[in-house]
Amino acid sequence: MNGVRVTAGLAKVTLGRACGHAGGARRLGWWSYRPMSSVPAQESACTDFEEILTPSGGVSPLQPLPLPGPCPGEATGHPHLSCAPWVEEALLTEARHNESEDAFVVVDLSHVEAQVGLWKSHLPRVRPFFAVKANPDPRIMAVLHSLGCGFDCASVPEVAAALKIGACPVRDIVYANPCKAPSHLSQAAADGVDLMTLDSTDEVAKIGHLHPGARCLIRLFVDDSASRCTLGNKFGAQLSDIPRLLAAARRHGVAIDGVSFHVGSECLDPCAFTNAVGVARHAIDVMSSFGVRSTIVDIGGGFPSNPALFAPIATALSCELDHQFPALSFPHVRFIGEPGRFLVADGVTLATNVIGRRVVEPTVEDDEHHVMYFLNDGIYGSFNCLLHDHATAVPRVLLQDGRVPSQFACPPHPSSSLWGPTCDGLDCIIKDSADLPSLDVGDWLAFEGWGAYTVAAATTFNGFSVPERRYVTC
Ligand SMILES: Cc1ncc(COP(=O)(O)O)c(C=O)c1O
Repeated sequence: MNGVRVTAGLAKVTLGRACGHAGGARRLGWWSYRPMSSVPAQESACTDFEEILTPSGGVSPLQPLPLPGPCPGEATGHPHLSCAPWVEEALLTEARHNESEDAFVVVDLSHVEAQVGLWKSHLPRVRPFFAVKANPDPRIMAVLHSLGCGFDCASVPEVAAALKIGACPVRDIVYANPCKAPSHLSQAAADGVDLMTLDSTDEVAKIGHLHPGARCLIRLFVDDSASRCTLGNKFGAQLSDIPRLLAAARRHGVAIDGVSFHVGSECLDPCAFTNAVGVARHAIDVMSSFGVRSTIVDIGGGFPSNPALFAPIATALSCELDHQFPALSFPHVRFIGEPGRFLVADGVTLATNVIGRRVVEPTVEDDEHHVMYFLNDGIYGSFNCLLHDHATAVPRVLLQDGRVPSQFACPPHPSSSLWGPTCDGLDCIIKDSADLPSLDVGDWLAFEGWGAYTVAAATTFNGFSVPERRYVTC
């Protein structure tokens, strides 16, 4: 058997696949890279991000656990999954030996690392600050921190999570919630988190009162109509608001350091990003005419996780940044971004167990059987994204009767639906035509690309627990 490392809590399993990661530290322009295997769980506070790559070792030795691999003679390569082989192996191993049948997720930390590499190669001038809200997993955050990323936090608990994994409050955190609770603002001041966004004169007053040392970015309204989830209905100052905001900042002694924007989550139109950069440039010119010198442009999040969709957006965006902010004319401006979904969506696969089945007999109106399958995760758990994130669930049969299904085995059952485990009729994952073969209690379904805005907003309603995590790297 070769290669995957599965970790759950402190227990780690090495299944021995060769890994292609760089063995030592290497420079990558504005940030630094250190392979995740050398990252201690707790960094000391306030390392310069140009210096954090100092190789330091420090991961505790792996403790092998006796996890068996695939059944003898079984074909490698699951016919229905597109995830990495080490993820597939972890899914199968865990599902076969999960005695409690609980739902679980497999987190591929090497995918997170690869996404950072992709970002760096396409947007070399922009330092990513991971939007913690997308998935506040401490292991993911530790990997991102080790790769030189900062954190976009929207609340004190998110700030605390970033500080816990060693983020520097001054350099590694942007408090990117334009409307902060007064108590959270005071705590941010106490924690030394200075960089934050605002879009109203009331917020300026609040910050002046509770966090006079803050450095603020004006969150600008930009067109978010090309995105999956819009944000502009809630946040964003118009260009015409800028003079008022600057006057308020002067009155309350608040420093304005630049601008931020967000084109909406999962925006697929490169023009939305490039137009927003134009708005940012315009805003900076206006601010400059009022004597305010901008040093930070925060391009927000909204990037799709699929590299084929990300690449054209990032290429156009990078060109536009160079066009609107040529390095020679704007040497004092640095760029940050707040990617959430892009970094974590596709590195996580959810595995759920079929815990029940109900066959609905044909009726006068409907002359075929309908099969309802009940899973042990649902709308109140990690499928909350169906409601909150406009997501669509695509089930893959992971294990049928304990075995990997063959590619052509059973044709889909004509009519089936998928339901969560709670007693609520709203707890429906797929209402009609789940496009599944005939399943039995105990079979497993996988949902790939389940890492953003999923577990982050899951509840334990009705007593059902949030899926456990298993971590793998290539
Ligand atoms: C202020 C802010 N930054 C970043 C993000 C992350 O967006 P995405 O996951 O689309 O990259 C969000 C998402 O809501 C946000 O509100």
